[in-house]
Amino acid sequence: MDTSDEWILKRTGISQRRILSQDTPVYTLAVEAARHAINDSGLQPENIDLVLVTTSTPDYLTPSTSCIIQKETGAVNAAAFDLVAACSGFIYGMTVAQQFIQTGYYKNILLVSCEGMSKALDWSDRKNCVLFGDGAGAVVLGRVEDGYGILNTHIGANGAVGKYITIPCLYMSEEDKQTREEYDNKLALWQDGQEVFKFAVKIMPYATERVIENTEVSLDDVKYIIPHQANCRIIEGAVKRLGVALEKVYTTIKKYGNISSASIPVAMDDAYRKKHLNKGDNLVLVGFGGGLTWGSALLRWSK
Ligand code: UT7
Repeated sequence: MDTSDEWILKRTGISQRRILSQDTPVYTLAVEAARHAINDSGLQPENIDLVLVTTSTPDYLTPSTSCIIQKETGAVNAAAFDLVAACSGFIYGMTVAQQFIQTGYYKNILLVSCEGMSKALDWSDRKNCVLFGDGAGAVVLGRVEDGYGILNTHIGANGAVGKYITIPCLYMSEEDKQTREEYDNKLALWQDGQEVFKFAVKIMPYATERVIENTEVSLDDVKYIIPHQANCRIIEGAVKRLGVALEKVYTTIKKYGNISSASIPVAMDDAYRKKHLNKGDNLVLVGFGGGLTWGSALLRWSK
C-alpha cells in the first residue's frame, strides 16, 4: 500500500507487530496466554472459579471465547463469560473480577484479553490498517495480603461519541455503510483517528489522576504507568499534561503495535518477565478506546 516505514514509525512509534495467519482462530493465542498464567499462579485449572475474557474480535459470538478457554484449559469448575469494552477491556475486566473476589463470591479468576485485530481491518485503509496487531495477555486474580494488589480502579464511558470507532457485527447503519464505501471488508474497523487522538490525550491523564486521588499514593510514588499502547504521540502528549517523565511510562508499542484490550496485559507481562516489577511497586494501568470507554487501575505489585 501507499505508506512507508518512516511514516508509521514517526507518526505512531510502531515498528513491528504480530499478525495471525488468516485461518488461525484468535482463541489459540488466548489459550496459550491462559495456560501460562495458570502455571505461573501455581494453581491447577480446576481451582479457577471464573474465566473472564475481554475481546472485540471473538471467533464466535457463541460459544464465547471464555467458554472455549474453559474447555481448552480444563478449568472445568469455572463459569465463563466475555466482556466487551474495546481497548479498555482489561481494566474493565480487572474491575469486574475485583468485585467478585472482594465479596468472596469467587476466589480465583482467570482474566484473558485477546485480540485478532488483523481480522477486523480493511487493508486498503492505510490510516488504520498499519496500527493494529494480534495478541493475548492473561492474569490470574485472587486475594493477596492487605495493602497489596488492586488498590483502586476507575472506569467510565461516553457512548455519545461512540461513532468515532466502530466494528459492525450483525447490523450496519447508513452512516456505517457510508464510512466503509471504499472498503473491501465492509465489517472492518473504522475510526476517526484525529477525534480519537484528541480524546485519548485528555482522558489518559484524567483517568490516571482519578485513580490515585483519595489514595495514599501520589504520582511520584508510582514506578510505572502502563498505558494502552495506541500511539507514542498520544503517550507523549498525555505524559506532558501529567507532568511526569516519559521514563515512567512502560511501552511495548514499537514491538507489538496496538493490540486493543491485550495491549496492557502484554506490556505488563513484558515488564514482569524482564524483572522490572518488584513486590511493593505501585503501578497505574490506564486504557481508552472504542465505546468510547476508558479505565484505570492502581496496583501494588504483590507477586
Ligand atoms: O486503540 C483505539 C484508539 N485509537 C487510537 O488511539 C488512534 C488515535 N489516532 C491516531 O493515532 C492518529 O490519528 C493516526 C495514527 C490514526 C493518524 O495520524 P495523524 O497524524 O492523525 O494523521 P492524519 O490522519 O492527520 O493524516 C496525515 C497525513 C495525511 O496526508 P495529507 O492529507 O496530509 O496529505 C494522510 O493521508 O498522513 C497521511 N497518512 C499516511 N501516509 C502514509 C495517513 N495514514 C498514512 C499511512 N502512510 N499509513
